[in-house]
Amino acid sequence: MTVTIVGSQLGDEGKGGVVDLWGDAADVVARYQGGDNAGHTVVEGGTEYKLSLVPSGAVRGKVGVLGNGCVVNPATLFEEIDDLRDRGLDPDVRVARRAHVIFPYHRVLDGIEEEAKSDSDSEVGTTGRGIGPTYEDKAGRRGVRVGDLLDPDVLREKLEYVVPQKQRLAEEVFGVETGEEFDIASLYEEYRRYGERLAEEDMAVDAGEFLADRLADGENVMFEGAQGTLIDIDHGNYPYVTSSNPTAGGAATGTGLSPGVVGGGEVVGIVKAYLTRVGSGPLPTELGGVVGDTPGYDEQGEGENEELATYIREEGGEYGTVTGRPRRVGWLDVPMLRHAARANGFTGIAVNHIDVLAGLDEVKVGHSYDLDGEEVFTIPATTERWAACEPNYRTFEGWEDTDWGRVAEEGYDAVPENARAYLEYVSEEVDADVYAVGVGPDREESVVVENPFE
Ligand code: IMP
Repeated sequence: MTVTIVGSQLGDEGKGGVVDLWGDAADVVARYQGGDNAGHTVVEGGTEYKLSLVPSGAVRGKVGVLGNGCVVNPATLFEEIDDLRDRGLDPDVRVARRAHVIFPYHRVLDGIEEEAKSDSDSEVGTTGRGIGPTYEDKAGRRGVRVGDLLDPDVLREKLEYVVPQKQRLAEEVFGVETGEEFDIASLYEEYRRYGERLAEEDMAVDAGEFLADRLADGENVMFEGAQGTLIDIDHGNYPYVTSSNPTAGGAATGTGLSPGVVGGGEVVGIVKAYLTRVGSGPLPTELGGVVGDTPGYDEQGEGENEELATYIREEGGEYGTVTGRPRRVGWLDVPMLRHAARANGFTGIAVNHIDVLAGLDEVKVGHSYDLDGEEVFTIPATTERWAACEPNYRTFEGWEDTDWGRVAEEGYDAVPENARAYLEYVSEEVDADVYAVGVGPDREESVVVENPFE
């Protein structure tokens, strides 16, 4: 069977921890989109593993697959694998031959475009990992795929076509001088060697076939979404989005399995009990707080409830895993969750970080919005209209701080009563049962109500 783990908000909902929690029952953990822009923090027995590309199941000895929908930076891939090996693990990672490859010039172009947009204050606030430019080349049918790294002649031919174009784009359109990131000979040498290593370690696969065979053998497959629904290129807050589909449909197109396979399994939405955002764009329930030079921030709820935002940011350790940027903080946005529930078809949800809100007198949620004098219950399609939304809040009584380790051991009934009222409200609004509640960063600090693999 399959279980798909999807972020229901803006990323950073704690998906890695949930994948790890249920990873025991999975034989294979596959990523279906994104690249090394993702930050997965997995804590195991007090040791923290920070991964950005390798599926987090690799920490628990599962086969990790990077599907065709991913964009792969081989330098990051091998760095993470080598690091895990140095720490005594033996990761088994397979990479789709159809996945596209991130080159150093993609990263440079990512930075150049952000810089150009900053003149009009319209930068996205990307992670700078070259994600957008790599997907652009994929859609433009000029990308280099993992399979091409294994064939030096094809690799050279493709680089000879694409690199001069990219160089001209950087130099003539953007007026930026280019360096070795655009040097065909050195790119060829470096990436040919990555291809050799992929071949030596037998890592390149046809992801769809590989996964279908494992399922046919009766194995369990988990699809690990990166980022979240609201930064999905189709269903998110365009243009402040990533360039892939974190939503559940991406698990089919990004692995080569059918929508029936994905939809026939469980789709679990990961919800953080409050909201965070790195990068630009509206955030109607934003609590304010000074977060340095986060683009787009000034237009949003500046200064209001600054102390509370800072408190939640510190308690929740809300700093970007990949970039270290402080995250913007807001109350839970329920119109956002309704949108995510429809786009993904959640069969269950996991709500994380309820411990972070413990000790507050009251906890608010944005239940609906006022937009042009009307009450609306889901997210408008355009950024401008979303930015014009005024939240209608509901207030819940706060819950006490407690021994969360004990709560995790004793189960759902030990969750403070007011927190349970909050969880049950969320569950009803998205029409999906609560499968797990995160009460701390460690895998053991989760209340499991239902394991989707059972
Ligand atoms: P990119 O994916 O680096 O192109 O960045 C595009 C947008 O997605 C930016 O707003 C990033 O901050 C955001 N983003 C990308 N990856 C993550 C993530 O793993 N968590 C949260 N936001 C992300």
